Amino acid sequence: MTEVLERKTPEQLEKMRAAGLVVARTLELLRKSAVAGVSTAELDQIASENIKSEGAKPSFLGYNGYPATICTSVNEQIVHGIPSKNLILRDGDTISIDCGAIVDGWHGDSAITVLIGDVRPEVSKLAKVCADAMWAGIEQMRPGNRLTDVSHAIAKSIRNAGRYGIVREYGGHGIGTEMHMDPHVLNYGRPNRGPVLKPGVTLAIEPMVTLGSASVKVLPDDWTVVTKDNSWSAHTEHTVAVTDGAPRILTALD
Ligand code: MF3
Ligand code: CO
Repeated sequence: MTEVLERKTPEQLEKMRAAGLVVARTLELLRKSAVAGVSTAELDQIASENIKSEGAKPSFLGYNGYPATICTSVNEQIVHGIPSKNLILRDGDTISIDCGAIVDGWHGDSAITVLIGDVRPEVSKLAKVCADAMWAGIEQMRPGNRLTDVSHAIAKSIRNAGRYGIVREYGGHGIGTEMHMDPHVLNYGRPNRGPVLKPGVTLAIEPMVTLGSASVKVLPDDWTVVTKDNSWSAHTEHTVAVTDGAPRILTALD
């Protein structure tokens, strides 16, 4: 079966860029707001107000019943952590803040890992390993490359950095008029497989890396994904478009 990837027109890409910029500005605000003593519910409130004030719509709220505007995943939480007034950030914590917004029907989706105060050196290294892996995958988003060249580059980058767990149950995805579209983007695997990347293809690239085992479980809240061994994790995401040349990061600030 040859899967063909949907390609956006230049006009559609500008709409995705508008949504991506709302997400980028919201995450910048959250990066500054995420300090010891702040609850993840407060971060959610900040995100909600900012997205609305920019005339956009949060995409997570109500998605399959998800109850908040952002996902806040602290320490051993990997992704899909639900903001809570009872979860107060402490010095040394790490948090993945994941945010999505819709402008004119088009989506942007991005996540950052933020280090709270003084974190253990292995934790700051973990965050860097995750971000580097994301960039290694993004670097492969060039016309003529194939989908799993992205997957392979992510895993290779992590493997070359040391002994880390690569979460396999979740991954990146196509994005456009919906947050999650085909294809699924694995964060591991052999290169040179899958559909060919062409200008206009848009993907959300989001590696999840752990300090221990890669096994995960979902908490009884039915959302929060944590490591089974309670090892800490990092998660970073950008929405990216393939162009004639270098990949275009739709969720980065200018
Ligand atoms: N950005 C997340 C992802 O692509 C989506 C969060 S799921 C939600 O994995 F339900 F919280 F919206
Ligand atoms: Co995503």
